[in-house]
Amino acid sequence: MLKLNLGCGSHIPDGWVNVDYALGAWVAKLPVFSTVNKKFRIINFDWSDKIYMHDLRKKFPWEDNSVDVVYSSHTLEHLSKTEGRYFLTECHRVLKPNGIIRIVVPNLTAIVNKYMQGEIPADQVLDELYVSYESPHDSGLKRKLAPFIRFPHKCMYDTPTLLRIMSEIGFDVASKYAFESEIDNLSVIEQRDRTDEAVIVEGKKISAHASKVSSKQLDPVTVNP
Ligand SMILES: C[S@@+](CC[C@H](N)C(=O)[O-])C[C@H]1O[C@@H](n2cnc3c(N)ncnc32)[C@H](O)[C@@H]1O
Repeated sequence: MLKLNLGCGSHIPDGWVNVDYALGAWVAKLPVFSTVNKKFRIINFDWSDKIYMHDLRKKFPWEDNSVDVVYSSHTLEHLSKTEGRYFLTECHRVLKPNGIIRIVVPNLTAIVNKYMQGEIPADQVLDELYVSYESPHDSGLKRKLAPFIRFPHKCMYDTPTLLRIMSEIGFDVASKYAFESEIDNLSVIEQRDRTDEAVIVEGKKISAHASKVSSKQLDPVTVNP
């Protein structure tokens, strides 16, 4: 059974192909950098050298209709709207018919509500949305490396929007609670703190046609050469 964990970060459960492409994951494969980094702490070093490296904005390396399950937590929002749609279209292409997809992303509604109810002041809204590369605590070197080691949010979602987009791509989807799923043994991959104030959408690939049309129309390489 082929199960993909797309944008895994440092969470790499057994039984899943854990995919990421952060600089930290690349250099974790280089012993020399590993030694230097231990001294200077340039990059958060929770990276495993077992991560399957792939840029999720590009065509996936898996065959059509070959994947049983796709899980992706707190990653779609790091892609632009166009890249995100392409990513979901690629998920659709590689999934087998009736293959399961589960997407977890931060909930824009929860952040806006917190602001509207006075729980967060205006000058913290962008921090909550996590849309900046910069952290005031960064050294000069870290600031220069920020575009490679930080992945700010580039698109936000709420439940109706994610349901609509995934339906348009050809998934039969529903909003889910944390750990409510048809995926076997979900607890090895779903992290409780990642489901707080999150949009959780799960569904199945129902249409074989939609992905072909959308892939062609939406490949970001074509849209943004
Ligand atoms: C916020 S972390 C989420 C990690 C983990 N899934 C979780 O829920 O804790 C987002 C991950 O997406 C990865 N990511 C962002 N853009 C990516 C891309 N274009 N290709 C591959 N991975 C990407 C980042 O490297 C990062 O590890």
